[in-house]
Amino acid sequence: MKVQVCIIGGGPSGLLLSQLLHLQGIDTILLEKYSREHVLSRIRAGVIEHGFAKLMREAQCGERMDREGEIHHGFHIAHDSRLDYVDLHKHSGGNSVIVYGQTELTRDLYEARDKLGGNVVHNAEDVTPHDIASDAPYVTYRVGDKTVRVDCEFVIGADGFHGVSRKSIPTDVLREHEKIYPFGWLGILSRTKPVSPELIYVKHERGFALCSLRSQVLSRYYIQVPLSDKPEDWSDDAFWAELKRRLPEQVAAQLITGPSIEKSIAPLRSFVAEPMRYGRLFLAGDAAHIVPPTGARGLNSAASDIYYLYHALIDHYRKGDDSGLDGYSQKALARVWKAQRFSWWMTMLLHRFPDRLSYDERLQETEMSYLFSSETAQRLVAENYVGLPF
Ligand code: APR
Ligand code: PHB
Repeated sequence: MKVQVCIIGGGPSGLLLSQLLHLQGIDTILLEKYSREHVLSRIRAGVIEHGFAKLMREAQCGERMDREGEIHHGFHIAHDSRLDYVDLHKHSGGNSVIVYGQTELTRDLYEARDKLGGNVVHNAEDVTPHDIASDAPYVTYRVGDKTVRVDCEFVIGADGFHGVSRKSIPTDVLREHEKIYPFGWLGILSRTKPVSPELIYVKHERGFALCSLRSQVLSRYYIQVPLSDKPEDWSDDAFWAELKRRLPEQVAAQLITGPSIEKSIAPLRSFVAEPMRYGRLFLAGDAAHIVPPTGARGLNSAASDIYYLYHALIDHYRKGDDSGLDGYSQKALARVWKAQRFSWWMTMLLHRFPDRLSYDERLQETEMSYLFSSETAQRLVAENYVGLPF
């Protein structure tokens, strides 16, 4: 089989790119290791930058997001028994974010691929890129006993953190930067009315908490827990009690609790792999970088990679102009590192660090009081949270 672009990974990054390229008449195949049901069973953050929302519309996948997603003009930060507000709209020149679950967004992308008759292969085993440093790369995969070879012009590694693509870049070329935080987030999903129409990030002596939502009848809550904890250590009652302890009194009093329909612990990790291109292999999304969820940058950083790659491939096929492909790694990484910086800053601001010095604690308090005493500081947060320009 021969295609122009072979995409490895059927998460949001791979799906969005294959959809955008298909609409421009560029021929793709997408190889996903698992079933569609498996991909759609993952629950992940759902805050969408305005630039990403625009790209979803351009991909003809924005209709349900615009209908069912909620526009948030700001978010709250609870600290020291206060509830402060970051007004994104006011401080970012009228921008906002859309809160729409990543699972739903991925479902919309799959449906859009179906509608166009996109070439999407599920349960593709042993996906392996070959000859990526040459002008004639190819990818092999196996379905049952059958091995299939896909000859292509470009290979896109959009196969997430545990994927095969990044590992096919020689170790003497690839540099990896990683920071692992000494705690995780225990998250639950419950069919209850959210405690607040907009998100509340909580800094508390007992640890971080977050009140988020998927809709007006579906809430998502998180609490910071030690890495040694397991979801089964936490009954629903224990979770709600701990969450209430961390919320300001007036918020805790309004919290509606109910049975959890999902409960899991996510570790917090920052990771960047450089460069994001090797020969004819281009990495995108979680395959190249991970952020802790605190600033809600993960999915959005993936989207900016796809924006750059999409335009670079269009320029290559339409105008024979390779400057976008040649500059991809540098351009994508410049924005990736800014998202890393913001995620790190929000994580440092809001969590309780087990080995903190009293000096660190005082700095954290000063950072918080500075934020809410300075419009300039709030503008910095708003500019990053609604999304830096592509
Ligand atoms: N072969 C084929 N597919 C693979 C392989 C492989 N060897 N390894 C992993 N995959 C698939 C995974 O099953 C997954 O569906 O690649 C996909 C990668 O998807 P994601 O991990 O969701 O990564 P990405 O598409 O870059 O999405 C961006 O933003 O909010 C963050 O982490 C969050 O998923 C989110 C990400
Ligand atoms: C979520 O709703 O899951 C969520 C929202 C905002 C974050 C992280 C997670 O910063």
